[in-house]
Amino acid sequence: MNKNFNASVRVNSKGHLEIGGCDSIELAEKYGTPLYILDETMIRNICREYLESFKKYYDGKGLPLYASKALCCMEMCRIVNEENLGLDVVSGGELYTALKAGFPAEKIHFHGNNKTVSEIDMAVEAGVGKIVMDNLSEIARVDKAAEKFGKKVSVSMRIKPGVDAHTHDFIRTGQIDSKFGFALETGEAFEGVKKVLEAKNLNLTELHCHIGSQIFDIAPFVAAAEIMIEFIAKIKNELGHTVTELNLGGGFGIKYVEEDKPVAYEKYMEAVSAAIKAKAQEYGVPVPYIYIEPGRSIVGEAGATLYTVGSVKEIPGVRNYVAIDGGMTDNIRYALYGSAYTVINASKVDKEADYKATVAGKCCESGDLVQENCMIAKPCDGDIIAVLSTGAYNYSMASNYNRNPRPAVVMVKDGESRVIIKRETYEDIIRNDI
Ligand code: LLP
Repeated sequence: MNKNFNASVRVNSKGHLEIGGCDSIELAEKYGTPLYILDETMIRNICREYLESFKKYYDGKGLPLYASKALCCMEMCRIVNEENLGLDVVSGGELYTALKAGFPAEKIHFHGNNKTVSEIDMAVEAGVGKIVMDNLSEIARVDKAAEKFGKKVSVSMRIKPGVDAHTHDFIRTGQIDSKFGFALETGEAFEGVKKVLEAKNLNLTELHCHIGSQIFDIAPFVAAAEIMIEFIAKIKNELGHTVTELNLGGGFGIKYVEEDKPVAYEKYMEAVSAAIKAKAQEYGVPVPYIYIEPGRSIVGEAGATLYTVGSVKEIPGVRNYVAIDGGMTDNIRYALYGSAYTVINASKVDKEADYKATVAGKCCESGDLVQENCMIAKPCDGDIIAVLSTGAYNYSMASNYNRNPRPAVVMVKDGESRVIIKRETYEDIIRNDI
């Protein structure tokens, strides 16, 4: 392993992988495997980096919202709140988690391409800061809920700016062929704006766009920001309404493998802020208050997953299967997207990584692989395998396939560890069975 993989992991004097100052082998012994680990210091530092970049390049006139879909649990909501960020939620479940954790409702933005009536009621009643309109049908629904609760609801509209961010097809959401948001090119977005402005109980304060995920290039973000300012100007000129806030979504890439070269988040803000200010001046609209919605970049690299090797199956001339006690139930991203990860034999980090392994999960599914043909130190039964950068979209996408209980999540900080999500038990598995 490259000793500088990121700020969280290193090799300790025992030749073990250490995360957030904790020996991964000791963590595995103490809490069992599979186990998700999260480094609190790293999460907090990244939150601060985002806030600082707003201060430095945009006079602090904006707020990063943590996209909780990346990893939603009460402790994450508390940490993000303590770090003074806002929150993006996309379901009643995420909203419920945030409210239960004491997250201030007014700092929550509620997303989703098909919010149910009860989710909308829940959001309006709780008084979330913003409901982000996704489609024409929803506008009437939110207006009705606002009337029911006697509130004026502050809304945003998700716009497809038509920007291709060159990312994986499944996670590219800015272009026209997407189930999310209103298309600009077809006039749908403009019609949507008119409809929101006509609604009695809605107040259109913001426009939103999100161009994709795991993006390393700054240019598409700048392009999207410019397109959005142009649209804000069109709304002002043709409908006489001033949109004062702009939300540029998330999508900032992280390091999964050595070849990944993430852009410093500050560089992103520097470029986008300059573009927004210049365009706002060019079009004669006020410089908007801005939001961004980083998810993966806040928790992704702060996470790692530990597994225990159960068997090594060498098929001569074919491949070596290293079977672990987790798999697609706790990390479905390789099965779903073919995502690359750095895999390490955490018990033997000081040994040469010269063994080609296909890391296989324990589900009844041939495609249940965590990674294929990765180089690790030759494993034997009982070794602890670590997969790095699993903080985002792992626990949050976990399932109980084959009735496997979800692993625990342990937060580490300065050599101390604590459980923030308990391991599911078999009792949990049958809890709702009748
Ligand atoms: N805002 C909106 C409206 C989004 O749709 C998303 C992600 C984000 C913010 C956060 O994006 P991030 O900063 O995390 O890239 N399951 C996929 C990722 C799906 C992302 C969906 N939307 C994966 O595992 O790669």
